[in-house]
Parts: sequence; structure tokens; C-alpha cells
Amino acid sequence: MTKKVRTAVIPAAGMGTRFLPATKAIPKEMIPIVDVPMIQHIVEEAVRAGVERVVLVTARHKESIENHFDFNIELEDSLDRKGSRELAELSRSIGKLCQVISIRQKNPMGLGHAVLCAAPVVGDEPFAVLLGDDLIDSKIPCTRQLVDLYERESASVVGVMQVPKTEVIKYGIIGGHELDPRTWHVQELVEKPAPDKAPSQWAIPGRYVLEPAIFDCLRRTPPGRGGEIQLTDALQLLARERKLLAYAFDGVRYDTGDRLGFIDATLAFALRRPELRSGVVELLQKHLKTDQN
Ligand code: G1P
Repeated sequence: MTKKVRTAVIPAAGMGTRFLPATKAIPKEMIPIVDVPMIQHIVEEAVRAGVERVVLVTARHKESIENHFDFNIELEDSLDRKGSRELAELSRSIGKLCQVISIRQKNPMGLGHAVLCAAPVVGDEPFAVLLGDDLIDSKIPCTRQLVDLYERESASVVGVMQVPKTEVIKYGIIGGHELDPRTWHVQELVEKPAPDKAPSQWAIPGRYVLEPAIFDCLRRTPPGRGGEIQLTDALQLLARERKLLAYAFDGVRYDTGDRLGFIDATLAFALRRPELRSGVVELLQKHLKTDQN
């Protein structure tokens, strides 16, 4: 019997330098897409996938993330007193999403190291990993799609999407043999390969469901690209020792770690909000017209 995936690990220790100056005093994870912080979108995906607790791997100056998933009693009581019950409940609902446990990555030693920091909390159980710079919009949460395959096959699963050859350098890339049009048995993984060295154009955009054996692989992984302990390198070890699958999930992925990707996500999410849609369309038309003059 496969164990239930009840924990999600969300690395959130990065300095967010790609978003300076916004990230000088606030964590990148708290920057909103419309009015919802990026990290809340990620935690909500995990919760919709059936996860009961989230392990945030954080660093100094990231306390506001923990506060966001707690109650804000002064705010909520004051909203209640003013008769703004709906807003008070909206604020409380974030505190009730799931159990949030936070743990510090004391040194920035890479994504693999960040995931390893969560080992004492995760224990001997399968878990999901969701990276905060990748927002995936889908009917069935991307993490749920991976959990379903994990439960069917009792094997670790990475989510993949096809990228242009020129972009393989931005991702962990898999190679292996195709089991069906959506599923691969992974034999090889390379972190950010040069286009001519990539085993395929199937990239991992930050969604994983992993067996606890990955922790042992991470402990044996030497620093790789950029002198950091890479999750992709540990997955290569895992793939040699156990079955590792890749699944081409159904959904639209936004790279919110990139300025244009962030604007893309903001527009997409704003346009689907009924109370904002026509206003956003009007604004876009206005700006396009002014731009042409
Ligand atoms: C990380 C991972 C990489 C993955 C990517 C997805 O890289 O190391 O394997 O494909 O996230 O966004 P980063 O973008 O943090 O450099």
C-alpha cells in the first residue's frame, strides 16, 4: 500500500534578487498576483491536492510569510466590529488553510539542500515539492495529477512540460523512455543543460512528488551547478536506484519569477475575475491606444 501524500515542502528561502527593488524589504513570495500573494496560490494548490500540512523552508526576514498563514486577530476583530464580516472571514480562511510548519535554511546552499532541511519534519513519508516561482493553472491541481500517478505506480513523479530548445538552459531536463504520450520512465536528468547537451526538451517546472528515499540521495549529492546542492542531481541518483516517472501535466504554467511571466499571470488572473474583467479590458485598450499615439 502506498502511503498518503499529506505533506508539501515549499522552499521559500531565496533572496528574490530578480525582483529587486520590490524584494529589498519584503519576501518575493509575498508579492501578489492581483491581490493574492504568490505563496498563497502555491499553498492553495497543495491543499486542493489533498495535502494536510505545508513545510515552508524559509530564511531570515521571511516572517511575514508565516504571519500570512496565521490569524490576524486585531484585524479580524476590527473588521467584524465595522460590519465587514466577509473580509474578516476572508482573512481567517487563510489561517485555516492547513497546518504550516516553518523551518530555516540557515545557509543558501541550493534547492536540494532546502528540501533536505525539511527531512526532520517530513519523516518517512512521500511528500510533494512545489516551487514558488511556478504558478500552474489547471482544473485538477498539477500536484494532484502527480499524486494520482504516484498512488497508481508507487513511484516518485516529476511534472514536466515541453519547452523550446533555447530554453532548456533554464530548467532541470529529463531523458528516458516514453510509456504513454504523457508518461516517461526517467533515466537521466540534467540541471540547466546547454541546448546541445539536453537529453530532451521536457522540463521540470517546479512540481514533484517524492518518496522519502530522496533524502538519502540528497545527502549523497555533491554540490553541482553554481556550487549548489541541486535537487535535479539527487533525482538522477534516485532514478538509478528506483523507478522515477515524469508526467506531462495538464495546465498552463506561468513563470512568476520572471517579470514578463509575472505580468502574464497578473493579466490572466485579473481577466478571469468577474468584478475586474471589463475594467482590465478597458485599461488595456486605453494603454494600447496611448502607446500608438
Ligand atoms: C529550479 C530547479 C530546476 C527547475 C526550476 C523550475 O531552478 O533547479 O531544476 O526546472 O527551478 O522553475 P531555478 O529556477 O530556481 O534556478
